[in-house]
Amino acid sequence: MNSRKILVTGSNGQLGSELRKIANDYDDFTFHFTDVAELDITNYEALVNFVKDKKINTIINCAAYTAVDKAEDEKELALKINAEATANLAKIMHDTKGQLIHVSTDYVFKGNNFLPYSEIDKIDPINYYGFSKLKGEEEIFKFPINAQIIRTSWLYSSFGNNFVKTILRVAKERDELKVVFDQIGTPTYAADLAQAIMTILAKEKAASSVPSVYHYSNEGVASWFDFAIAIVEGSSSKSKILPVRSSEFPTIANRPNYSVLDKTKIKKEYNLEIPYWKDSLQVCLKKLNNDE
Ligand SMILES: NC(=O)c1ccc[n+]([C@@H]2O[C@H](COP(=O)([O-])OP(=O)(O)OC[C@H]3O[C@@H](n4cnc5c(N)ncnc54)[C@H](OP(=O)(O)O)[C@@H]3O)[C@@H](O)[C@H]2O)c1
Repeated sequence: MNSRKILVTGSNGQLGSELRKIANDYDDFTFHFTDVAELDITNYEALVNFVKDKKINTIINCAAYTAVDKAEDEKELALKINAEATANLAKIMHDTKGQLIHVSTDYVFKGNNFLPYSEIDKIDPINYYGFSKLKGEEEIFKFPINAQIIRTSWLYSSFGNNFVKTILRVAKERDELKVVFDQIGTPTYAADLAQAIMTILAKEKAASSVPSVYHYSNEGVASWFDFAIAIVEGSSSKSKILPVRSSEFPTIANRPNYSVLDKTKIKKEYNLEIPYWKDSLQVCLKKLNNDE
């Protein structure tokens, strides 16, 4: 591809902010970072104009409706942002022969496996957010375009709000914390995912006209209980983490019991080395400590 002109949507979020941080490492690429205030991805005309104006040939879609519980009540809005707007991006990249990198979720699965989910496993969204994200994937498949759909899980970052920051905050306030031990998955440091996305873009593969799905998380497996223990151990807090069942913490949207992702495909095709989740957590905690 000629010089890359990249539009990053939803760039004030966790993943978008991590991409912004590493953008300077890619001198050959021109980045345009936008969020809903400058460029609402549900606005087709605005997108067409932006892409034309800036000669965009690559979109990294970090914009999404990510309020998992609220999505059960705001179905229309979740679908508009996660599916209809994704269709806008796919259509525009199809019409201009560009490339689309889109991020999806482990919640497209039911979450009752006992082996890591691969890209060809049966999809059956666990909740409405997962359904809306699956519809987004399906919209991309309607177009013969060069698109990579990356399903990820348990995203956290030093930017934005997430489980790591919540545990750090609550552990300062309380002596004991109850955290569920019967939901198993893999935490993913958004900085690692951002790096993986840039590796995909930097590797000049022959442009495909069929979208591909990939799974990406950090390496390893944990329950939210294990994740919380590792967070507290990496902090100055003496708070004790207590394991509880999910039934003690009912949520509006269902959550998967098991949603570990099998990353064999992305590792093989892009020669990626993926960090172990505990190592990446240490990197993020160090960054949060330095920022304080
Ligand atoms: N977070 C997770 O645990 C997780 C897990 C699996 C997959 N994912 C997927 O990973 C991707 C990145 O997630 P993230 O955690 O970085 O999300 P995030 O922090 O919630 O960021 C999403 C960004 O998109 C913006 N946005 C919302 N509607 C928009 C619109 N119509 N036009 C343009 N921007 C819009 C949001 O703005 P506002 O904040 O103003 O709404 C926000 O800045 C998403 O596709 C998400 O579905 C996330």
